[in-house]
Amino acid sequence: MSELNTIQTHVALGDRQLYRIGFGSMRITGAGVWGQPNDPAHCLELLRRLPELGVNFIDTADSYGPNVSEELIRDALHLYKGLTIATKAGLTRQGPNLWAPVGRPEYLRQSLLMSLRRLNLEQIDLWQLHRIDPKVPRDEQFQAVAEFQNEGLIKHIGLSEVNVEDIKEAQKYFKVDTVQNQFNLLNRQYEQELDYCTANNVIFIPWYPLAKNALAGKLDTLGLAAQKYEATPNQIAIAWLLKRSPMILPIPGTSKVKHFEENMQAMNIHLADEDFELLANAYKALA
Ligand SMILES: NC(=O)c1ccc[n+]([C@@H]2O[C@H](COP(=O)([O-])OP(=O)(O)OC[C@H]3O[C@@H](n4cnc5c(N)ncnc54)[C@H](OP(=O)(O)O)[C@@H]3O)[C@@H](O)[C@H]2O)c1
Repeated sequence: MSELNTIQTHVALGDRQLYRIGFGSMRITGAGVWGQPNDPAHCLELLRRLPELGVNFIDTADSYGPNVSEELIRDALHLYKGLTIATKAGLTRQGPNLWAPVGRPEYLRQSLLMSLRRLNLEQIDLWQLHRIDPKVPRDEQFQAVAEFQNEGLIKHIGLSEVNVEDIKEAQKYFKVDTVQNQFNLLNRQYEQELDYCTANNVIFIPWYPLAKNALAGKLDTLGLAAQKYEATPNQIAIAWLLKRSPMILPIPGTSKVKHFEENMQAMNIHLADEDFELLANAYKALA
């Protein structure tokens, strides 16, 4: 059962209207987000399909591959007509599944310049500090990012895995346009940050929105909702996020056209208030 969609379909980033389901491009890489994907040709096909599906927001990072995700996006979509490409830096890679923050200003600058080169752009639409490096004073990192924006190298600025206090501190240096924190039905540790973003018109980008397909195995409340709305559990999980806040822009990740087409259908599911609450309460203990 899917009712008429009354969910807000877009959210504003400056003068751009972003469709509220974006594409997370971490999965178009090899195992452990390392190296080339198994089927690069299919990943290129998937990327080219995105604008046809109405997607105009693509999330990537220099560390995905590293470089692989940004390069595939460039190969498939440059000149990016009508698309907003969001990249990140501040995490380094030492091999599959290994991630270490480095936030020294000169390193962040190098990463940004290399992203510009790889994406073949003069300005990044949205550049996100992937992590605040605990070994570098936070304000030095914010100061560096503010300089990138003042120099016109980046248009909008986002943060990732931050708390409200970090956001407030960063706002002394620049306008925080987006916050990308892990958030899904099973993990809601950042409710407070989400509420702050909603109240302050900051786009909240929940990463891991499907808990890497773990939600598909939830056959209890989620499974029942899926049956009721003639949908899949993953679609219900995305629909739940879309209803949670009008500032939420989920970026489900996949390497497969079929999966992304399925995920996009979540926009057509309008959860009744009681089902939204039922789902929220069912997984509250886990969140
Ligand atoms: N800021 C950060 O620190 C951070 C951290 C992690 C991720 N991210 C961003 O957030 C995006 C989303 O997170 P994520 O990719 O880790 O997790 P996710 O979106 O929760 O799940 C992605 C996984 O689910 C599978 N999947 C997706 N749709 C499916 C479907 N319809 N049916 C079955 N399986 C499906 C994918 O496998 P298949 O490839 O087989 O479809 C993939 O392994 C990433 O791509 C990345 O852009 C950001």
